[in-house]
Amino acid sequence: MKNRRRRHHHQLLFTFLLFLSQETELLTAEAFTGTYGINYGRIADNIPSPDEVVTLLRAAKIRNVRIYDADHSVLEAFSGTGLQLVVGLPNGYLKDMSANASHAMSWVKENVQAFHPKTSICGIAVGNEVLGGDDYELWEALLGAVKNVYKAISKLGLADAVQITTSHSQAVFANSYPPSSCIFEKNAAQYMKPLLEFFSQIGSPFCLNAYPFLAYMYNPENIDINYALFEKTKGIYDMKTNLHYDNMLDAQIDAAYAALEDAGFKKMEVIVTETGWASRGDDNEAAATVSNARTYNYNLRKRLAKKKGTPLRPKMVVKAYIFAVFNENLKSGQTSERNFGLFKPDGSISYDIGFHGLKSSSADSSLLSMKAVQAQGLSKSSYILILTISAAASFLFLKQ
Ligand SMILES: *[C@@H]1O[C@H](CO)[C@@H](O)[C@H](O)[C@H]1NC(C)=O
Repeated sequence: MKNRRRRHHHQLLFTFLLFLSQETELLTAEAFTGTYGINYGRIADNIPSPDEVVTLLRAAKIRNVRIYDADHSVLEAFSGTGLQLVVGLPNGYLKDMSANASHAMSWVKENVQAFHPKTSICGIAVGNEVLGGDDYELWEALLGAVKNVYKAISKLGLADAVQITTSHSQAVFANSYPPSSCIFEKNAAQYMKPLLEFFSQIGSPFCLNAYPFLAYMYNPENIDINYALFEKTKGIYDMKTNLHYDNMLDAQIDAAYAALEDAGFKKMEVIVTETGWASRGDDNEAAATVSNARTYNYNLRKRLAKKKGTPLRPKMVVKAYIFAVFNENLKSGQTSERNFGLFKPDGSISYDIGFHGLKSSSADSSLLSMKAVQAQGLSKSSYILILTISAAASFLFLKQ
């Protein structure tokens, strides 16, 4: 998007596009094709346009993206980009979608079929963190909504291309320490089991929102922050399985596997649909610092790039969507809620974990000096061209 002229740059640009299109040929019907994805939350009035976000994500080579609704401006901007998008059916729709199959059909037609396949919509997340939440009517509606949405995509011939899921918070679990003792919490379990039954029939994974950040903040006296941050630590030892954990995210994922096994779903895959660390917080959120957020996200990126499983499921490669692209200024709650972004609203990076921003910041380690570019007074679209070229250049550099 928004690229610009300059003949001698065309060759590099072409190389970059070629690289992208080679990557996109590896598509399968699976919703999560890589191991490193990102959540594109948009509860903000100061973030870049969807077109600029496409540029940002392509430059970062992040192909797997989740949004929390099915905003048509985003679906249009993602058209023809090869980015793999999971759209969200917000909680507010669940009762209606459950009660009336024809409403589910209309929603899928308007928000998925109308854009498919030019926009690679590879999943629909039906509701978010419903079970374990405080609205019991939603617990009742979730499975009906999931089934009606699945029926709609089946009727439309999209069931091979679009995966249906729902994400769970840690609130659905009991006894998550040590990981092998984890089970589903009693109230949630009644709703969870039929849901898992249906997901196992249609081949959908268990989607987990996992935040070592929150676990650490609830219990800083008893948790080594290095364990939460993937830093050097003695870790924990699970006596029942004889397994050792050197980081908390692996332990949280294995706790979910243990609960699934206990419920009779030993073969179901766990995917992390949200994880992240806030770079700023209130006075009672001392762990929310730029330094900790950088350490978590830098180490997480390295962890995911290894394409390795967990101690309990060594063959199930860990896949996670980072929360989130941007800091979101209109989110309610504590200050940390508004400060999970890898990028600031102006498109510059929040801290350096190897990505480049849409514009420079003091944290940016770009190969090209963006400040020099700014000093020359080039337009924003020129920055984007430079950004694209610098991404191509770093790819060529990596290949040597
Ligand atoms: C479902 O919605 C349609 C269209 O709004 C309506 O005609 C129909 O009566 C509804 N069905 C039920 C079971 O409520």
